[in-house]
Amino acid sequence: MGAHAALLVRAPTPSPLPIALILILVSITSSEAVSDADILLKFRVSLGNATALGDWNTSRSVCSTDQTESWNGVRCWNGSVWGLRLEGLGLNGAIDLDSLSSLRYLRTISFMNNSFEGPLPEIKKLVALKSVYLSNNHFSGDIPDDAFSGMAYLKKVHLANNKFTGKIPSSLATLPRLLVLRLDGNKFEGQIPDFQQKHLANVNISNNMLGGPIPASLSRISSSSFSGNKDLCGKPLDSCSSKKPSAVIVALIVVAIALILVTIGLLLLVLHRNIRTVQLGGAAPVDNHSMSEVAHSSLVECGTSEMSGHSKRAEQGKLTFVRDDRERFDLQDLLRASAEVLGSGNFGSSYKAVLLSGEAMVAKRYKQMNNVGREEFQEHMRRLGRLAHPNLLPLVAYYYRKEEKLLVSEYVENGSLASHLHGNHSIDQPGLNWPTRLRIIKGVAKGLAYLYNELPSLIVAHGHLKSSNVLLDESFNPVLTDYALLPVINPEHARQLMVAYKSPEFAQHSRTTKKTDVWGLGILILEILTGKFPTNYLTVGNNSEEGITWVNSIANQEWMMEVFDKEMGGTENSKGEMLKLLKIGLACCEEDVERRWDLKEAIKHIEELEVTDGTNDEGDEFPSIAMTEDMSTITL
Ligand SMILES: *[C@@H]1O[C@H](CO)[C@@H](O)[C@H](O)[C@H]1NC(C)=O
Ligand SMILES: *[C@@H]1O[C@H](CO)[C@@H](O)[C@H](O)[C@H]1NC(C)=O
Ligand SMILES: *[C@@H]1O[C@H](CO)[C@@H](O)[C@H](O)[C@H]1NC(C)=O
Ligand SMILES: *[C@@H]1O[C@H](CO)[C@@H](O)[C@H](O)[C@H]1NC(C)=O
Ligand SMILES: *[C@@H]1O[C@H](CO)[C@@H](O)[C@H](O)[C@H]1NC(C)=O
Repeated sequence: MGAHAALLVRAPTPSPLPIALILILVSITSSEAVSDADILLKFRVSLGNATALGDWNTSRSVCSTDQTESWNGVRCWNGSVWGLRLEGLGLNGAIDLDSLSSLRYLRTISFMNNSFEGPLPEIKKLVALKSVYLSNNHFSGDIPDDAFSGMAYLKKVHLANNKFTGKIPSSLATLPRLLVLRLDGNKFEGQIPDFQQKHLANVNISNNMLGGPIPASLSRISSSSFSGNKDLCGKPLDSCSSKKPSAVIVALIVVAIALILVTIGLLLLVLHRNIRTVQLGGAAPVDNHSMSEVAHSSLVECGTSEMSGHSKRAEQGKLTFVRDDRERFDLQDLLRASAEVLGSGNFGSSYKAVLLSGEAMVAKRYKQMNNVGREEFQEHMRRLGRLAHPNLLPLVAYYYRKEEKLLVSEYVENGSLASHLHGNHSIDQPGLNWPTRLRIIKGVAKGLAYLYNELPSLIVAHGHLKSSNVLLDESFNPVLTDYALLPVINPEHARQLMVAYKSPEFAQHSRTTKKTDVWGLGILILEILTGKFPTNYLTVGNNSEEGITWVNSIANQEWMMEVFDKEMGGTENSKGEMLKLLKIGLACCEEDVERRWDLKEAIKHIEELEVTDGTNDEGDEFPSIAMTEDMSTITL
């Protein structure tokens, strides 16, 4: 406990001179201190139909210690107004930003789902804002190009379902911290500006009147985010060159005819052969595989425009099922559905396809999976097929071809932990709170324990544990994927990419041990607590030096509480548990394998943590642990 108290003492980080200046300026400008209450009441005057804000009344304090007693729609932390959440209240009139700019700690404003009209308010007056939610109103008109310039902290911009016209303001494209951008359901036209942000994960500009090429930086966003526009082109939509409609139709007809011819040819070929292929997984449909092959090759083409080994295609090409409890389907069923590219990982792309039964499956392509011969590969897949645990994504079927493999599994609803940690949220989809994060770590630990039990012959049973390989189901339970692949991945490729080979023991002694996955678990714990991506460590080709540096940067924080991801929220009670988990994470990342815990010990400590339910539902936007970040430098 003594250590706990000491950790809270912290010296201000920015250099002393500007702080002193700012303090002087603050004391001059705020000598006539206006209370938050006065500011908010002044702000309310400009609103129309503010009956819902009737309880804003100076007889009660704006921010009581107990959140529930605060003024309606006002979010506080440590006695200051941090957010305004005035949604669905029938508000109209003007949004008086000049008044709001006097709220020194205001970081989030939401006026979603009201009846505001007219041009976009000049939100850059609130230079320190992190989130702006103005969706579902009647705002209209062009937005000046520089409407967002200088907003260095802005992460989330929600302008969906208004009536904005003109071009998307270019100042959005250069916001340094932008993560979420919702512009769907407006009347934006012209071209999309060239977005520079690397971490822009959640963008939706569907249902506008935009045209022209999609900038490369947005090429990995889901295609539904671009639908309903005039004539956008380029990845993830069709390439820009084949834009003329007549050309497209001609091309489609040609492709269709070619497919039919090839299919007939292959069918004939197959009928003339003995069907010698022995099915290892049992009852897969037998006579369809040439069709599937065609479907598959077209998929391959769509995916990477790479074609090889035509001639042998007909010999192989059916899905082999590794479990008996699944509905049978074949590659054709899988690919006939408009296969949606989910993303391209280090190994290859993943596709989502919905079967006729309505069940969604994911097929993941692997090209560098030739470490073992066919027999051994099949044996390994059968072994994976026997695994069954709530925290493991079951392998359902696989497709074998020498040049590439497809591993088929179920589609998991909520995406990956990585996408939740690094940007993919909004008020409708809040960031993960502390109880959820702890449950995720506990589930990951259980999944790992099971893997080690069931696959004792593997030294590193998972081998590729990282946040993008932890999927979240509809109740946010974690399911591990991409596990137990080390034996089949080509070694040189594995060394480049797989998490196990980024461990300090591999870097120093070129070996992996039974404790190597513990290192990966440690990194995952630190990532989930800090909300920070382990930079460099997981990028292609980098060695473990970077990982060690990253861990040390966390371990050496002067003020431990500050490392925690503010979006996780949490109450006083849970801080103690967070600190414990942090220590577990650091212990798992112990560089010296001898001194590092083994999996059993790590799991024992994780199991001991209590899920103290924060029930602080709004924890995603409103900090509960520390809000000192950048505060002193941006309040003027
Ligand atoms: C403030 O609330 C008190 C009681 O809660 C009420 O008597 C008073 O009229 C209110 N004042 C205003 C300005 O609404
Ligand atoms: C909370 O507010 C008080 C007084 O306004 C201030 O002294 C203290 O430093 C604040 N605490 C944090 C963690 O910001
Ligand atoms: C918008 O607000 C109304 C009430 O004013 C509510 O009935 C409706 O569900 C809200 N819609 C959304 C999308 O939040
Ligand atoms: C005024 O707000 C109420 C809800 O607070 C809403 O039901 C009503 O429709 C609004 N009136 C106008 C004219 O917007
Ligand atoms: C984008 O928004 C549209 C309409 O609001 C919706 O149908 C689509 O699913 C969204 N796409 C994504 C990726 O969220």
